[in-house]
Amino acid sequence: MRSSASQGRLPGVPATLEEARQRAEHLRRAIEYHNYRYYVLDDPELSDAAYDALINELRALEDAFPELRTPDSPTQRVGAPPLDRFEKVHHEVPMLSLGNAFHADEVRRWYRRVCRLANREALDLVVEPKIDGLAVTLLYEGGRLVRGATRGDGLTGEDVTPNVRTVKQIPLVIPVPAPEQRRVEWMPPFPAVTEPPPRLEVRGEVYMRKSDFEALNRRQAERGERTFANPRNAAAGSLRQLDSRITARRPLSFFAYGVGIVEGVNVTTHWELLGYLGALGFPINPDARLCTSLDEALVYAEAWLKRRHELDYEADGVVFKVNDLGMYEQLGATGREPRWAIAYKAPPSEAVTVLEDIVVNVGRTGQVVPTAVLRPVEVGGVVVSHATLHNADYIQERDLRIGDHVIVRRAGDVIPQVVRPLLELRTGAERPWQMPNRCPSCGEPLVQPEGEVAYYCTNVACPAQLIRRVEHFASRNAMDIEGFGSKLAARFVKLGLLKDPADLYFLTKEQILGVEGFAEKSAENLLRAIEESKGRGLARLLTALGIRYVGSTVAELLARHYASLDEIMGASLEELEAIEGIGPRTAASFVEWFSRPQNRQMVEKLRRAGVRFERVGPADEEDHTPLAGLTFVLTGTLPTMTREEAKALIQEHGGRVVSSVSRKTDYVVAGERAGSKLRRAQELGIPVISEDDLRHMVITRGR
Ligand code: IVH
Repeated sequence: MRSSASQGRLPGVPATLEEARQRAEHLRRAIEYHNYRYYVLDDPELSDAAYDALINELRALEDAFPELRTPDSPTQRVGAPPLDRFEKVHHEVPMLSLGNAFHADEVRRWYRRVCRLANREALDLVVEPKIDGLAVTLLYEGGRLVRGATRGDGLTGEDVTPNVRTVKQIPLVIPVPAPEQRRVEWMPPFPAVTEPPPRLEVRGEVYMRKSDFEALNRRQAERGERTFANPRNAAAGSLRQLDSRITARRPLSFFAYGVGIVEGVNVTTHWELLGYLGALGFPINPDARLCTSLDEALVYAEAWLKRRHELDYEADGVVFKVNDLGMYEQLGATGREPRWAIAYKAPPSEAVTVLEDIVVNVGRTGQVVPTAVLRPVEVGGVVVSHATLHNADYIQERDLRIGDHVIVRRAGDVIPQVVRPLLELRTGAERPWQMPNRCPSCGEPLVQPEGEVAYYCTNVACPAQLIRRVEHFASRNAMDIEGFGSKLAARFVKLGLLKDPADLYFLTKEQILGVEGFAEKSAENLLRAIEESKGRGLARLLTALGIRYVGSTVAELLARHYASLDEIMGASLEELEAIEGIGPRTAASFVEWFSRPQNRQMVEKLRRAGVRFERVGPADEEDHTPLAGLTFVLTGTLPTMTREEAKALIQEHGGRVVSSVSRKTDYVVAGERAGSKLRRAQELGIPVISEDDLRHMVITRGR
């Protein structure tokens, strides 16, 4: 987020009040415009330092002439002194809610009824994401934000004006200056607006991006403050603060989707209205679509619902709205729900089920992970019967007990989570759970290293670990032994045929034929697959060894610096740490792994088997331009590099960096708080990659 640090040049303070007023006005317009470029378009024109200089000059002016300090000055976005309570606001135009449909058939019924009432064969519809935040209404008079309020019960809400003024995506003055530069391709068409409407109430959703929510929760936890259950609660809790200075520190976003009071605005359709709001300077959801038939709208909605988890905000469905505003009055409302709109909800991604047991699984590093065994339940369209519980602390913190009714949540394609138990359904028969003292596989005592939440089985001969290690060794990213998955790994280990992954290379046909499910042909196929895997080369081999923190990205990095496994084994801790992209933790884990005699023995066994220890393909020196011919766009904050560094990395390797996304863009590198460029990339179907992927590309393409 942009900070308004106290740096930057302070020009001479004007001598007269009138001069100061003019200068302040000029600065405010400029700041609001640059604010819009930064927060709404995600396409800043100014450096942070230049932006700070403008803010600082305005602050200095307002300090010298306090009568110029208006509540809608951008200097006031940091919040105002706390209130005792929120005043009530009566909504002249009620804030309605929406009827729900959970199946396409219900949407069809709604559409038929609306067509009948409107006396029309067919109607255009606008489909919009239904954002999970909280509804607010923003009153602008003469183009100035004079009041912001929550929905409340729809008729009376709370006055949260100082709070909404801190939300950077909400303009304090409309239209945001420099309209000719404001047209964005994805906005519904609407001519640039130069004059503010006399009175306008803009309605929309204040929400928190998922990435901002996670960062906020991390910050809160670090400071020992309360964390939030989900982005919606975080947004609501942040906006309903009596102290708006707290709100100002919370990363809130906004999408406009409608209006209340309207004076002096000439639009006849909802689609035009969205364009108009966009032209005034409000963020409009880029996934809103105008559809000319119900079928088109349903197809779009289904497709959007499928990919909604990829977006950086939570949405629990879409809203179908009749496009023709002229029909709204005629269609009317049933209770609090207008007939001209309906929400179409995705299948719930939370469900309640019974936690039948907690079992522990041993991973390849010996880490013992508790797993929930659940009474099978459908969550967001798939049946879930297991969920990871991460570690003992996770279970303790939530007080999960065997027999509890629990809430299970699935977000997107991520693994299901057990959120919390339903205490009100406890009968007293539930049993608390404790981490076992001994490994469930080999019976050796478990240890918890200092400073870690995880428990480990440290027995190198533990069969459960061995199965996982063999499975990993043979997996696609590692030695890629075709057809050799987790089931076979378990069978071979249990029969005592493998004491470490290297034993794979000494299996005989007779031994394989003795394993359940193998015949002449399949045994030969496996032997061939094992033989083929010997030549995968250094990077795959390093990945296959299963060293902690050494995944394929780190392995590729190392394979660029060293020509063979022997060179790497001879490297010191300092030497490894000096490699860009290798941290101290990884380097230490590496050195520790090779210092263990049984690991050294395994390496020697691999050598004897004829496994290739050297790099495959040309050495990296031969190709400095792995990204030649590729065009990149950078957006958001990358985890470890500044934009300048990322740009330099790309250019160094022959790529080009441009500032806006078009069909000619090859990749968009997105970090935290990526905004409209990311959306644009998704719209155009351009691959979006992370900083890690970029590094990976530089390495793998360079070989
Ligand atoms: S239209 C009468 N559009 O959903 C129309 N609402 O269940 C009322 N919401 O209170 C609002 N995204 O908080 C509309 N694109 C969208 C929306 C949306 C989220 C929320 C809003 C409203 C609630 C109604």
